[in-house]
Amino acid sequence: MRIDIITLFPKLLQSPFEASIVKRAIEGEKVEVVFHDPRDYTVSKYKQVDDAPFGGGAGMVMMIEPIDKCITKLKAERSYDEIIYMTPDGDQLNQPIANECSLKENIIILCGHYKGVDQRVRDHFITREISIGDFVLSGGELAAAVFCDSIIRLIPGVLGNESSALSDSYQDNLLAPPIYTRPASYKGWEVPPILTSGNTPAVELWREEQAFERTQKLRPDLLED
Ligand code: ADE
Repeated sequence: MRIDIITLFPKLLQSPFEASIVKRAIEGEKVEVVFHDPRDYTVSKYKQVDDAPFGGGAGMVMMIEPIDKCITKLKAERSYDEIIYMTPDGDQLNQPIANECSLKENIIILCGHYKGVDQRVRDHFITREISIGDFVLSGGELAAAVFCDSIIRLIPGVLGNESSALSDSYQDNLLAPPIYTRPASYKGWEVPPILTSGNTPAVELWREEQAFERTQKLRPDLLED
């Protein structure tokens, strides 16, 4: 997979790609992530990429021309499955969306900043709009980092044990069961004895029951589907 990220603030986005699973995925060439700054595509002397909104109002709007030039150049180099705009009024990110997007070959992610982008960018270039929740961030960068993490970890071969992505919370509409590690007893707080019994089928059954109970208690809405 190749992910091209268009952002005015690449620094806001770098560290999530420089550690842990995502870093390993990049090093293992499972994914390539390339940043693009609209300032590199502006014709203006002062590298202007934003301007005041027509009709007045507070805040600045990202201009269409640098974004158009950047996207057009990328599209001339390869074809893209999706051009995604991170925005609080997009479809709310969930596991099915992450699963679907993890199967794409090439995607562009556009991060808005300030008041957002000129609506014509959304109307003419964007194929999908994604939100990470009903709250407003300063820009799409942190949302893009969350979205990228959620899809990169699902690319086959990225997680050591492929089944570990399948047992995540929200896969199969169930929350994950509780997990424990050594020591089995800590300050008198014991690990459920079934987990140290060595009885694998019984452990599996216990995990399924726990996942169901947890979901029923914390997210009963998931069981309604
Ligand atoms: N940009 C600003 N807020 C956002 C959000 N909640 N999700 C996605 N992009 C955003």
